[in-house]
Amino acid sequence: MIYSRRTRFVLGLAGGFAAGVIFAFAVSELNSGTYSSAVSSGNSGSSAEDSGQAADGQSDARLVTDNAALLGSASDDWCLALISESNPLDTDYVPPSLTRIDDSHSVDSRIAESLQQMLADGRAKGLDMYVTSAYRTLSTQTALFNNGVLTRMRAGMTPLEAYNNAKQSIALPGTSEHAAGIAVDIIASQYTELDERQADTPEQQWLMAHCWEYGFILRYPQDSISVTGITYEPWHYRYVGRNAAEEITKRGITLEEYLNE
Ligand code: DAL
Ligand code: ZN
Repeated sequence: MIYSRRTRFVLGLAGGFAAGVIFAFAVSELNSGTYSSAVSSGNSGSSAEDSGQAADGQSDARLVTDNAALLGSASDDWCLALISESNPLDTDYVPPSLTRIDDSHSVDSRIAESLQQMLADGRAKGLDMYVTSAYRTLSTQTALFNNGVLTRMRAGMTPLEAYNNAKQSIALPGTSEHAAGIAVDIIASQYTELDERQADTPEQQWLMAHCWEYGFILRYPQDSISVTGITYEPWHYRYVGRNAAEEITKRGITLEEYLNE
């Protein structure tokens, strides 16, 4: 059968994308071992991760936790749950309660007041900024991620290159803090691009300096991809509570490093 060049391109793109995603997920499962056990068991069971024992045998209880149970608990540490590629969130997790913060965004109700206060105080200083992403469902995250992979493939990456590159800036579905409703993307109205220049806006300068006062941290700082797995995101603020936020911000460390001490 003879296909047109356009048809061959579309078929190739679709086939490559499917193969890449399947392969990449298989690699991910093999490499982490935590993903399938955490997701399928609802983060309960007797694996090393679940017992707080790191793979290398070191006790790592604060870093490796049942994050869904912690987030849903009444513990003071509920907001310290680590959500990352190596510590995925149960895909069934939904925040105990959501609060609308504007026409199209919601957050876990426990952080709504702190967030609104931070935005109000910033605006009172003459800053012009808004929340562009807050709580996201698993299906929204999945759509964002798949779109990110496709965009990269259209730009010339192989499916596997696209997958590996996309997950450095769009969390793999099941590993995003947005799914817990405790992270928000805030951008300056005068500069709405999600790139490194966002950091130069007066809005981000103020947020980066003062977010800890409201219990937030800049979750993915510059040059921390080796620790967080995510590139610099000078717009993604994560609620961790006032004490942790102050220490993390003033010491210039990541949540992973704070939890690992
Ligand atoms: N952009 C961040 C990493 C997320 O997708 O959660
Ligand atoms: Zn974000």
